[in-house]
Amino acid sequence: MRIGLAADHGGYKLKEEIKNFLKDRKINYEDFGTYSDESTDYPDWGGKVAQAVADQKFDRGILICGTGLGMTIIANKFPGIRATPCYDIFTARLSRKHNNSNILVLGGRVTGVDLAKEIVKEWLTTDFDGGRHQRRINKIRQIEQRCFKEGSI
Ligand code: RB5
Repeated sequence: MRIGLAADHGGYKLKEEIKNFLKDRKINYEDFGTYSDESTDYPDWGGKVAQAVADQKFDRGILICGTGLGMTIIANKFPGIRATPCYDIFTARLSRKHNNSNILVLGGRVTGVDLAKEIVKEWLTTDFDGGRHQRRINKIRQIEQRCFKEGSI
C-alpha cells in the first residue's frame, strides 16, 4: 500500500510523528509537504494528496491540519475521494468498514500523538464491509458523476 501524506502548519508536527510511525512499520509513503511550521494554506497541500489518490497514483492518503476540517473539505472536492476526519478509534474503524475511507484526516491541534498513531493503525488495518455500504457509496459516485456532467463541480 502506498500512502500520500501532507499537512499544513497546524498539522506539520503531527505529520512528522506519523511519518516516523509509518517508517518504523515499513509502510510505503510519500511526504507531499508542508516542510516546516511556517503559516501556509491547507488547500495547497491537501489538494496534492487528494489528486494523487483520485488519479490512483497512491492507494490512500493521510492529511493533517489544525482541526482536520479544512483538509476534509478540500479533499472531498476530488471525485472518488472519501476523506474522513477521525478523532477516535471508533470513527477510524467505522470510516473504513462503512465509508471505505481512502483519506484519513487528523487534527494536529485536537488529537495527541499517541492517540493519532492508534487511529492510523486502526484505519490502516480495517477492511471495508461492502454489501449495503457499497450500495451507499455507489449513490455518492452517481451524484459526483451527475454534478460533473452538469458542470456544477
Ligand atoms: C490554520 O490556522 C487552520 O485554520 C488550519 O490548520 C485548519 O485547521 C483549517 O481547517
